[in-house]
Order: sequence, then C-alpha cells, then structure tokens
Amino acid sequence: MNSVSFRVFDSSDDAARELAAEVAELIRSRAAEGRNAVLGLATGNTPLPFYRELIRLHQEEGLSFGNVITFNLDEYLGLERDHPESYWTFMHRNLFDHLDIAPDNVNLPSGTVADSEVAAHCAAYEDAIREAGGLDFQLLGIGRTGHIGFNEPGSEKNSITRRVHLDPVTRADAAPAFGGLDNVPTYAITMGCATILSAKRIALLAWGDKKASIVKAAIEGPITDQISASFLQEHGNTTYFLDRGAASLLA
Ligand code: PGA
Repeated sequence: MNSVSFRVFDSSDDAARELAAEVAELIRSRAAEGRNAVLGLATGNTPLPFYRELIRLHQEEGLSFGNVITFNLDEYLGLERDHPESYWTFMHRNLFDHLDIAPDNVNLPSGTVADSEVAAHCAAYEDAIREAGGLDFQLLGIGRTGHIGFNEPGSEKNSITRRVHLDPVTRADAAPAFGGLDNVPTYAITMGCATILSAKRIALLAWGDKKASIVKAAIEGPITDQISASFLQEHGNTTYFLDRGAASLLA
C-alpha cells in the first residue's frame, strides 16, 4: 500500500519551527562536510512562518546560508522580476534579503523569457538542478486544485519544468493580490511533478480548514493526475506538516 506520513501541530508556527530545525540540521551537516545544501522553495502564504523561522535562526542563532543553493518551484510568465507580485520579489522580500545567501545561488524560473526561448530555459533549469547535485529538500504548499508548484489538474507524473496554463481556480485565488482577475497572469513556468519527486526529502505544509478537503483527497484518495499532490503517496520520504484545521478531515 502506498502511504505518506503526516504530522499534526497545534499551530502553523509550531510546525514551522519543527521543519526549520530539520532544514537547519541539513544545512549545518552539509557545511561540516564542506558541501552545499540544495533547497527547493515555494511561494504563497503557507511558507511564511517557515521563512520567518529560518530568518530568526540566521539572525539569532548564527545559521549561515553560505552553503545553500535554492531553486524555486515556479514563476508567473509576463512579470518583470521587480513586479510586486513576482515570485522573485516575494522570495527576496520574505526570505533572501534577510539571509547571507549568495545572490548567484538563488534560482527562479524567468518570468520574462521570450516564447521562443521557453523550452531551452526550462531545460536549463532542470540541468542547473542536476548540476547542483539534485534537490536535497523540497518545500511545498498545496493549492485548492491539489497542485504542487503550478502542476494543475492533468499534469503528468513524469512532467518536468515547462510552461503551464493556470487553472481558473488558481487565478481566482490570486486575484485579490493582483487587484483583480484580469491582472493575474495566464501562464507560468513550473517545475514538473517529476522534478519535485526527484527531491530526496519533501515537506508539504498546509494550514486551516480551507485546505482540509484537498489534503484529505491528496493523502487518502487515489493517485491521480487530477490532484498532482497525490503523486507524493509514492515518493517514500514525504511528510505533510499540518495544523489542526488542515488535518480535520483525515480518517
Ligand atoms: P497558499 O498557496 O500558500 O497561498 O495557500 C498554496 C498553493 O497554491 O500552492
């Protein structure tokens, strides 16, 4: 039987502290070996308590990110880096600007790559992950469509980094931040399901009742390309970090 492990915490802050301690241990143990730690990162509201805790570990406990290389899951197509809603901006504002990470070690897909260059850009992103040694760790949230990254319903398990059309549900969820649906990009570049599943360790975070039904479907339902998070059931080293609300419908 396939299974995926989950842990339920009293609060998202408690869960974030636990996961940040695990990631800090990875970073420190790699540093002790003179090696890099390769982290796959995510955007959205969900990771914010985790990022706050990483910043605290850096500022108050001396955790260095000097040996960390990051790859973000995705980026909207059509946004300049300095657009207020680009994931580049989000990651710098909420994490990178507060750490000692080398700018060259930060990787996100481009939001402005020309149509004719998208395929090569995506292939280069996959190559860069491989050349860094592969993803030691991948952080995930989950969308109401069950997406991980922007792997919307219909994304295949063997999909890799590519251009995707955003689901209407995903665009509607993003509309308030963009000041209306018309301003939300229609396309994005995302790591594929196979890219994500190649990570040695995966943590999916979800908070609140609104995520309970999709979390239940992803953990307890059939493995299906209609819910890309369901592929995590076959990964072997994935843990869901949930608060009580997000776990409330689990058997
Ligand atoms: P959220 O988004 O963290 O803002 O809920 C999650 C996602 O869409 O993956």
